[in-house]
Amino acid sequence: MDHVIEIKGLRKVYRDFWYRPKVIAIDRLDMEVKKGEIFGFLGPNGSGKTTALKLMLGLIFPTSGKIRILGKVPTDVRIKEQIGYMPEESYLYGFLNADETLDFYGKLNGIPRARRKERIEKVLDIVGLKHARKRRLSDYSKGMSRRISLAQVLLKDPDLVLLDEPTIGLDPVVSREVKDVILGLKSEGKTVVLSSHLLSEVQTVCDKIAILCEGKLIKEGNVDELLTVNGETEIVASGLKQEDISRIKDVISSSGGKFISSGHPKETLEGLFIKSIKEKQESKSN
Ligand SMILES: Nc1ncnc2c1ncn2[C@@H]1O[C@H](COP(=O)(O)OP(=O)(O)O)[C@@H](O)[C@H]1O
Ligand SMILES: [Mg+2]
Repeated sequence: MDHVIEIKGLRKVYRDFWYRPKVIAIDRLDMEVKKGEIFGFLGPNGSGKTTALKLMLGLIFPTSGKIRILGKVPTDVRIKEQIGYMPEESYLYGFLNADETLDFYGKLNGIPRARRKERIEKVLDIVGLKHARKRRLSDYSKGMSRRISLAQVLLKDPDLVLLDEPTIGLDPVVSREVKDVILGLKSEGKTVVLSSHLLSEVQTVCDKIAILCEGKLIKEGNVDELLTVNGETEIVASGLKQEDISRIKDVISSSGGKFISSGHPKETLEGLFIKSIKEKQESKSN
């Protein structure tokens, strides 16, 4: 099976108390997610991202349209085992520590004792919380809370993971760590669908994105392709002198091209920030 998610003509209208149509949250959405892809829903607040995820999970029902998820309808109990979902807000029991939390959810998911123990070790490792496993969750930072929620989702080793705003409210370093966990899932062959209102978040992890606006899909495709400026060529070189650049300009114009710009390539602000923090931390630990 190639497509993990297939959606056709999906529409969701929220109704008010008198059953009058109130908000068209999703409007004629068509999309597909392939196995092993990281797919990102991008859109401003209220554009329908959470609604789309809840429809895929069968938590709410479409007004019209079709959804196939892992080849079945979203309400089919046979696929529940294979799907992990992290809601926008996670509710954690502050008086439990990480080990107890994961054991509790493992039991809820019906994972047998021996397997539970093995999975808890594995997911704590994945999210990097082994050092804090005995600490109460009420003492966790926001980033740690998000990571334990992620661990909880991964406990049953799902093939498809749906994450609603996984990096919301996290600082760039923790956000990068969460993104690395997501990339790790991809390398294990899992399919990930996530939502975000932050452009840079999706750009760095997603293979494909769908931009939603007022419930409508306004752009969809491969991230690299969408961002490629066609008809222009970028050349990056080192060790050039000013006169070399003048000669290159001549070559460009004699080839019928047009010289547009030259300069030093820029690092992203996120890259610079994370590099600086890492350097500081490393110098402290040495
Ligand atoms: N239970 C609900 N009842 C009525 N309207 C809702 C409900 N849930 C969401 N909406 C509306 O649907 C639209 C999309 O919401 P949502 O899917 O939460 O967007 P996003 O996750 O992109 O911020 C918004 O206008 C929101 O107010
Ligand atoms: Mg939302």
